[in-house]
Formats: sequence, structure tokens, C-alpha cells
Amino acid sequence: MNRLKLAILISGRGSNMEALLKAAEDAAFPAQPVLVLSNRPDAKGLETAANAGVPVLAIDHKLYGKDREAFEREMDKALSDAGVELIALAGFMRVLTPWFVTRWQGRMINIHPSLLPKYKGLDTHQRALDAGDTEVGCTVHWVSAGVDEGEIIAQAAIPILPGDTAESLADRLLPEEHKLYPRALALACERVRG
Ligand code: GRF
Repeated sequence: MNRLKLAILISGRGSNMEALLKAAEDAAFPAQPVLVLSNRPDAKGLETAANAGVPVLAIDHKLYGKDREAFEREMDKALSDAGVELIALAGFMRVLTPWFVTRWQGRMINIHPSLLPKYKGLDTHQRALDAGDTEVGCTVHWVSAGVDEGEIIAQAAIPILPGDTAESLADRLLPEEHKLYPRALALACERVRG
């Protein structure tokens, strides 16, 4: 089986990236990481990926000032040069322009720490606590023009327990994200192959 060439885009810690790299160590996994790209040169995840033998690249968005498209054109070139067929956003903290999203439509997925369509954007766990929810969760979805709005691929949830804070929920949810993302990525690969 030809594995789809995968790029993982990060901005920081990269623990979801690491979960994807681990899953892809299995030759039967349908995607092969060919590039880990960060918009922050100091992202810890870059080191993790390099240690795992995956090509890494930092494209510092700050060098492009307000010109988001110029930054994205650089990313797009690096992705095309690496032959990337599918992008997984994993804690990538830049909002992408319609130009980039349209270019990668149907070939880009994201993990978001809420049970979408609830709590798009930031501070998801605090907002769930404030609303008196009984659970929080994470969603892997296709990326479309609206932020955190694309079609849902898969979700996982955990209960909110007495005494939980946004931090404790984030800590307890993270292992679920790490299980969900490889599974959802495999489903996304099926769709890309058609
Ligand atoms: C995760 O909680 C993910 O859901 C969100 O950003 C966080 C990234 O963490 N999009 P990491 O960099 O994967 O450790």
C-alpha cells in the first residue's frame, strides 16, 4: 500500500504530533510523515520530530509581519516540495487564510479541544465549566474556511468531575487526544484515497 505523505504543522509542545509519529512507525499506518513544520522556531516539538528522524522546518511567521499570505506561500512551497498529500494541524496556532484553506481543501485536518460545534476558538475547557457542562472532549475535523467549523471526523469525551479546573481537564483530555488523532487521521486517509 502506498502511504499518503503527511505533514504535521505545530506551534509548540507537539504531543499530538508525537502521537501521530508513533502511530506512523507501524508500516501498516496509512500515512507517512515527511515533514514537521512549525511557525515558531523555538517549538519544542521540532526537537522531538528531529530526534525521531523526521525532516523538520521552521518558517517564522513574524518575519512576514501582517502579510499572512506571504507566510503561507512559503509554507505551501515547502509542503509541495516535500510532496505532501495530507496536512494534520496539531496545536498550530495561526489562523489560516481562505487562500491556503482552499488550496488544501479536503486534504487538511485539525484537532480541537472541545466537542464541536461547541466552543470554537480558545479557552474551551473554561467555557465548558462556566456553562455547567458535564463533559468536555476533543474533535478531529476537516479544515474549512470558518475557524473550527469543518466536517467532523471523530470525537472523544471525558466527564467533568467535582473540583476539575481548565488545567486538570486539559491534562486528563490529552491522552484521549493522543488516541483519537491517529484513528481520525486513518479515517481521513480513506477519504483522500476515495
Ligand atoms: C491540544 O490540546 C490540541 O487539541 C490543541 O492544541 C493543543 C496542542 O497540544 N489544538 P500539543 O502541542 O499537541 O501537545
